[in-house]
Amino acid sequence: MADAIKIFVPIDAAAIAVGANEVALAIEQEAAQRGVAVQIVRNGSRGLLWLETLVEVLAPQGRIAYGPVQVEDVAGLFEAGWLQGAAHALCHGLTDEIPYLKKQQRLTFARVGITDPLDLVEYQALGGFEGLKKALAMPPEAIVEEVTQSGLRGRGGAAFPTGVKWKTVLNTPADQKYIVCNADEGDSGTFSDRMVMEGDPYCLIEGMTIAGLATGADYGYIYVRSEYPHAVAALNNAISNAHAAGWLGRDINGSGREFNLEVRVGAGAYICGEETSLLESLEGKRGQVRAKPPLPAITGLFGKPTVINNVISLASVPIVLAKGAAFYRDYGMGRSKGTLPFQLAGNIKHGGLVELAFGVTLRELLYDFGGGSASGRPLRAVQVGGPLGAYLPESQWDVPLDYEAYVGISAMVGHGGIVAFDDTVDMARMAQYAMEFCAIESCGKCTPCRIGSTRGTEVIDKIRNNDHREQQVHLLRDLCDTMLGGSLCALGGMTPYPVLSALDHFPEDFGMPKSGQPSTRV
Ligand SMILES: Cc1cc2nc3c(=O)[nH]c(=O)nc-3n(C[C@H](O)[C@H](O)[C@H](O)COP(=O)(O)O)c2cc1C
Ligand code: SF4
Repeated sequence: MADAIKIFVPIDAAAIAVGANEVALAIEQEAAQRGVAVQIVRNGSRGLLWLETLVEVLAPQGRIAYGPVQVEDVAGLFEAGWLQGAAHALCHGLTDEIPYLKKQQRLTFARVGITDPLDLVEYQALGGFEGLKKALAMPPEAIVEEVTQSGLRGRGGAAFPTGVKWKTVLNTPADQKYIVCNADEGDSGTFSDRMVMEGDPYCLIEGMTIAGLATGADYGYIYVRSEYPHAVAALNNAISNAHAAGWLGRDINGSGREFNLEVRVGAGAYICGEETSLLESLEGKRGQVRAKPPLPAITGLFGKPTVINNVISLASVPIVLAKGAAFYRDYGMGRSKGTLPFQLAGNIKHGGLVELAFGVTLRELLYDFGGGSASGRPLRAVQVGGPLGAYLPESQWDVPLDYEAYVGISAMVGHGGIVAFDDTVDMARMAQYAMEFCAIESCGKCTPCRIGSTRGTEVIDKIRNNDHREQQVHLLRDLCDTMLGGSLCALGGMTPYPVLSALDHFPEDFGMPKSGQPSTRV
């Protein structure tokens, strides 16, 4: 199909969910009927989720974006001349010029949405395997040093320095070591891991292979949540292609070095994203938290030294190696180096993925990218960092998204999930929901979380129903104190963040006075 016009239709689950497969079929049929030659490429998503299905036509002037395209639009788009990039109500012009994309700093997501995710030739044409090639020529200590110097910190939530973790594994002698990728992605409103796995799976494979070379591990597992069947399929295909092409297996690219990979489907519990529960689950047991120490880096999977990193942490490694630590470190602010793929979700007009250097503010993300609320009502509260993250009121939306700055306001950046709520939200209900979530998802190992979350739910219920409200608020604060200080892991230990932030910033929703004024909301 030398003269066929390329049309890109995303194969990402978010696009499939709104009909991308049917749109691809309709395009094929319409083109056949009109006798025009088209080549449909199933690419990853560009992350402009409100425009899915976002179809791109490779016209003479470049890739032109049309969206959201539905089956019934297809005939009209042909009629309007979209194969030449013609104007249409759904046309957004050159994809790369769409401000939402143009204003981003895509490092980890540089390739996502550009190509067929499983095309190895395209992967290499766009810089794929450059980092791995460099790593193959470096001693393990030098790879670890490069990652340390880049300032990369874990993107799964805790922001622990990746290089330091790798160094511990490198320096722990063992007959077997493992690389485990945490792809459980349980946080509310998050999807960046999924987009990488579906949209650029070789990048994750490359990052894990580099981690193996750096630490002396020759086997890796990707623990993917069960709700991600498309990611599982993409990864399995990518692993098999990489093996066939010599990028995985006994002799990586003729180097004599070995690395093998396997995908495991998760057990469907939020706690299985916590690293020690994940290891238990990988070992075939019930996902329950292990006490630390020992650290997984010393006694991890099957008792062996194990690197556990989030998808985005590992997928950020290839560019660090390819372009050097200094290049990566140049992005960001303070001790938060590089970029983070923020995920805009909830009541937001333009939900999607926005990769930017640390330091951007929530207000910029919510309005310059998100376009305000989807409902058209004023935004009131934003939860950042998943279900254990604080609710931020408008007065905090100008704080730069930086790990330390967020700790300073008792919040957390976490995995970069941003869930927006408009002024109809009842924050007392949200606080209660945080406790309920903890009660449902608690692994049951420690008392403050197992019992505390259930009591917390009851106490908030009493507050909402004005049953000895003042006393119950006092009790709630005491309980949060116990959970914060006495829980074995961050599920129980951080549930107080959403609860207390709701109480502190939105007391009127609990029937408490704000600024000395009695509330009228409850
Ligand atoms: C309750 C709970 C759930 C978690 N869920 C995830 C998850 O879904 N994905 C993830 O990468 N990290 C998750 N984490 C963080 C992991 O325990 C761990 O810090 C992370 O896998 C380390 O990788 P990183 O250093 O690359 O971030 C969770 C932690 C807790 C306490
Ligand atoms: S805090 Fe909750 S989830 Fe974590 S170990 Fe304790 S009971 Fe388990």
